[in-house]
Order: sequence, then structure tokens, then C-alpha cells
Amino acid sequence: MKSTFLLETLLFTLAAAGSCPYGHDDHKWQRPGPEDSRSPCPGLNVMANHGYLPRSGKNIDLAAARSAISGAFNYEPTTIDFMFQAALDFNLSTTGNSSTIHLSDLRWHDTIEFDGSLSRNDAYFGDNLHFNPEIWDTVAQAMNLYDAGPCGNETLVSVEVAARARAMRVKEAMRVNPAFNNSQGAMIGSPGTTALYLTTLWDDELEAVPKSWVRAFFEDERIPYIEGYRPPKTPRNATDIFEMNERVLAVEV
Ligand code: HEM
Ligand SMILES: *[C@@H]1O[C@H](CO)[C@@H](O)[C@H](O)[C@H]1NC(C)=O
Ligand SMILES: *[C@@H]1O[C@H](CO)[C@@H](O)[C@H](O)[C@H]1NC(C)=O
Ligand SMILES: *[C@@H]1O[C@H](CO)[C@@H](O)[C@H](O)[C@H]1NC(C)=O
Ligand SMILES: *[C@@H]1O[C@H](CO)[C@@H](O)[C@H](O)[C@H]1NC(C)=O
Ligand SMILES: *[C@@H]1O[C@H](CO)[C@@H](O)[C@H](O)[C@H]1NC(C)=O
Repeated sequence: MKSTFLLETLLFTLAAAGSCPYGHDDHKWQRPGPEDSRSPCPGLNVMANHGYLPRSGKNIDLAAARSAISGAFNYEPTTIDFMFQAALDFNLSTTGNSSTIHLSDLRWHDTIEFDGSLSRNDAYFGDNLHFNPEIWDTVAQAMNLYDAGPCGNETLVSVEVAARARAMRVKEAMRVNPAFNNSQGAMIGSPGTTALYLTTLWDDELEAVPKSWVRAFFEDERIPYIEGYRPPKTPRNATDIFEMNERVLAVEV
């Protein structure tokens, strides 16, 4: 009797492990291939690298974008509709279907793409599409991403740290780029995209984002599962992003 119970418990445990409740099934990270399309947006690239968006990065419609943000980060599916719509409204699509985009369509300067990005160079210098290690390094250093501070306990990126690094990067871009476009899009978009990655990776208990998660997201364009990231239990939404944006803007820089 007792041994039957133990056996059942064992089988039940194995079955539960097999069903993998917090897993991500076939959404393994994979580097993009040479034919795959990628964007100046690390968020979209991350989702394509995990197959939440088509791994090709091509022919993406609103439905695909909605299911990606929901599946990858547990956002309310409609959270980023306005951004997708902006891409369509700027006529960025080169797919032959005005309802869909290839990820690289998003690179056109002074549409959604703007100067002073955290991880891309300005269009003036030639390549505003690909991750730029030198540019990112200035931001990473400003957030002290590769060290844990003198007491060894600074492992997190706070809103304050992220906001100051962002402001530093914009100031530096303004200094070195004679064509820096101080457009409304850039002035709203810069704090906005910082709010976007903070909201996306935010750890509610830590009230911050682990440095290792920020690195995985920008440097590998990877969801930091191995560093401990799990999607939030409750879906995040546009209000969460808006409130984070307010917090970013409130930091004295
Ligand atoms: C959860 C979803 C998303 C996240 C987490 C995200 C995150 C980010 C971040 C952090 C940046 C700044 C990159 C940098 O400064 O180096 C960025 C830039 C950008 N994003 Fe996204 N994004 C998301 C969805 C989207 C969508 C739906 C679109 C449009 C269809 C989009 C288009 C762009 C573009 C064009 C840029 C370049 C702006 C620039 O010049 O810096 N993103 N995104
Ligand atoms: C996009 O194309 C439509 C239809 O041709 C046009 O009415 C609109 O002004 C264009 N938008 C931009 C931002 O060029
Ligand atoms: C264009 O894309 C939309 C969205 O995926 C789809 O509903 C529509 O059928 C496509 N149109 C054509 C002509 O393929
Ligand atoms: C700056 O960007 C805006 C759009 O964001 C564009 O309309 C304007 O022409 C740009 N200005 C310059 C000087 O390129
Ligand atoms: C790290 O430890 C030092 C010394 O105990 C403390 O003063 C500091 O506030 C701590 N920093 C963080 C981020 O916990
Ligand atoms: C967005 O999420 C927050 C936090 O979970 C929640 O309080 C709020 O009601 C949500 N807002 C909308 C519009 O769904």
C-alpha cells in the first residue's frame, strides 16, 4: 500500500516534470542566419531569435507581433499595437503587402528610428541597424554592467542607473554627431525605449533588472532564461510602460 503510494508519487512527479510548466517548448535561442531579417530594435530581434516571431524576421503582421510579445514576455497582446501601426503608417513596408513588415524595414532614419540609441550608432555614421559593441560599451560602462561594485553587491540595474546611462549616451551622440536630429521622436523615443526594456525585464521582487539580463538582451539578443528570467505571472501592459517612462523621466540627470 505504502509502496504503491510512493510509486504513484514518483510517477506523478516525473509526469509533472515532463509537462514543464514554466518551460518555453520549442522557443530555443538561435543565432539568425545570413538570409534572416533583423531590426534596430533588440526587443523584436530577441523575439525572432527565439522563434516567437518568425525566425526569418520576414512578413510580420500585427497578429504575429501580438502573439510574440505575449508568448515571450507575457505582455497584453495589444500593448505595442501603436508601434506596429507606426511602422505601417510611415510606409516602411517592403514586403509587397502593406499590412506586413520585414524587421529590417524599421531601420529607416527619422521614422521610428532615431539618433542617440543605446546599442546602435547614429545613421550619420553609416550603420544604424546592427548592434554596435563600441557604442554599447559606453552605455554598459555607465551602468557598470561588468562589475559588481567595490562591495560586490551591485548586481542590479535600477531605474536611476538606466536613466542616467541613457542621458549620457544622448549627450555623447549630440556631441559627436554634427547631424544629430533633436526630433520630437528622438526626445520621446529615447526615454521610451529605456522604459520599454526595463518594463520587459523588470523583476518585481528585486525592484530592478539584473545586470546579466540586460547584457543577454542587448548583447546576445536573447531572453535571459539561463540567468533566471521568467515571464511575469500577470500580463504587463501599456500602463506599466507608461509608468516606467514617468519614473525614467523623473530621474535627475
Ligand atoms: C516588447 C516589445 C519591444 C521591446 C522590449 C523593445 C525594445 C526596444 C529597445 C530597448 C530599443 C532601444 C534600442 C537602443 O537604444 O539601442 C528599441 C528600439 C526600437 N524599437 Fe523596439 N521594442 C519592442 C517592440 C517594438 C515594436 C513592436 C516595434 C515596431 C514595429 C519596435 C521598433 C523599434 C525601432 C524602430 C527601434 C529603433 C529606435 C532607435 O533608433 O533606437 N519595437 N526597442
Ligand atoms: C504613406 O502612403 C499613404 C498612401 O500612399 C500616404 O497617404 C501617406 O501620406 C504616406 N505616409 C507617409 C508618412 O509618407
Ligand atoms: C497581407 O497581409 C495580411 C496580414 O497578414 C493578410 O491578411 C492579407 O491576406 C495579405 N494580403 C495578401 C494580398 O496577401
Ligand atoms: C529630423 O527628424 C524629423 C522626423 O523625426 C524629420 O521630419 C526632420 O526632417 C529631421 N530633420 C533633419 C534636419 O534631418
Ligand atoms: C552594498 O554594501 C555596502 C556595504 O555594506 C552598502 O553600503 C551598499 O548600500 C550596498 N549596495 C547595494 C546596492 O546593496
Ligand atoms: C495594467 O497592469 C496593471 C498592473 O498589473 C493593472 O493594475 C492595470 O489595471 C492594467 N491596465 C490595463 C489597462 O489593463
